[in-house]
Amino acid sequence: MNSFEVHIPTRIYFGKEKAYDFFDQLRSYGAHAMLVIGGGSVKNLGYLDEVIAHLEKRGIEYTLFEGIEPNPHAATIDKAAALGKEKDVDFLLAFGGGSVMDASKAIAGLIHDNETEIWPFVLGEPRNNTMKGALPVTTIPTTAATASEVTAHAVISNPDVKGKSPISYPFFKPSASWLNPAYHTSLPAETTRDGASDILSHVFENYVLGGNDSPPADRYSEGVMQTVIETLPKVLDDPENEALRGQMLWSSTLALNTIQVAGRKPEPFILHNLEHSLSGYNPRLAHGRGLAILYPAYFKWLIENDRVVDRLALMGEKLFDIETNDEYEGAAEFIATFEEWLNDNGLYHRLSDVDIPPRAFPEIASYTIRVYGGGNDMNAAGPLDKQGIVEIFEKTEEQVYEKAEY
Ligand code: NZQ
Ligand code: ZN
Repeated sequence: MNSFEVHIPTRIYFGKEKAYDFFDQLRSYGAHAMLVIGGGSVKNLGYLDEVIAHLEKRGIEYTLFEGIEPNPHAATIDKAAALGKEKDVDFLLAFGGGSVMDASKAIAGLIHDNETEIWPFVLGEPRNNTMKGALPVTTIPTTAATASEVTAHAVISNPDVKGKSPISYPFFKPSASWLNPAYHTSLPAETTRDGASDILSHVFENYVLGGNDSPPADRYSEGVMQTVIETLPKVLDDPENEALRGQMLWSSTLALNTIQVAGRKPEPFILHNLEHSLSGYNPRLAHGRGLAILYPAYFKWLIENDRVVDRLALMGEKLFDIETNDEYEGAAEFIATFEEWLNDNGLYHRLSDVDIPPRAFPEIASYTIRVYGGGNDMNAAGPLDKQGIVEIFEKTEEQVYEKAEY
């Protein structure tokens, strides 16, 4: 196994009954919370009143900021940070999906460092890696997708420059997170399936590229993938089932907490680099949807370029019981079976279906190379240049959805 370090400082409270412990714990981060929400779903569903009641019961003052967009905009984060500074908040309580949690980390950083603008701090911009600290961040995730409730990352969008780029610091890792599946029964089918796609990607990005050195990471990752593959169709059929929602939620937290890659070779998250560039170009594109569109095309491109065929065949064997003596055959069968699963679950589309026309492919590929490759080719078990990225994008155009309405 390769050397690694794991640091997960987040206190995780799972389940309805853990509300009391979570809100009691919040008092240790200060007396004044900045409560951050998205476009209003948690308010309209009545969840926000419950959370506010918990805060009030413990005498925790709060300043509410409402209006974080999906793919959170830098300008909105700047506005929220200005309010947080004015109100002198002590810590952040993010109540929403990955976008709200990521925005809250960025707000926490701006307030701590007494800065006004987040965009200069993202990857690819001049002040990247210069942030000094952040107020404590706490979260209540309402999607099963990003694992932002435990990660060091915040992914920020800037529609003015068609950009989307991460900021990562150990001090962004949330101090405490309450995972309440009851807040997930309202998730629309689209957000549910997009989230499932994101969870899968967090485990299989490095499963594919990270080599054979860590069987524990492989078996762990297969467990997460298997759970999602089995559970997504069930939860789409029975969206109000809290037990199924809980399985998806816990799978999402398990999928991106660094244990899933421990002992393998560290390799870039290529699909994420490509997808962030896509949803930077079109901020209405959900992250998980963009990833799902890329999977089959990326896998086929890897096989055509003779890369990691053994690992793709292994995924087929472990996830779909595909057995063959020929790795190429096994890998191809894995992709075909996985495409069927994507199709059955409403996740099989072309980039042009989500308003990313082929004429934009070269521009988006250039963005990926500039921001995520630092101006150089990407590394996907070998060089992946601008032309290769365009080829992957072009391959998605062969994916015609056959089963239901998009
Ligand atoms: O804005 P509201 O009204 O809250 O509605 C949201 C939004 O429209 C809605 N929603 C959330 N919870 C709901 C709900 N609707 C009904 N019931 C609920 N319980 O869902 C929509 C999507 O929300 P969003 O937060 O954008 O989705 P997601 O959780 O998938 O987050 C996506 C963002 O996270 C980033 C992505 O790039 C993207 O910007 N990521 C963050 C990562 C991290 N911090 O480590 C890693 C990921 O790979 C990812 O890149
Ligand atoms: Zn992701």
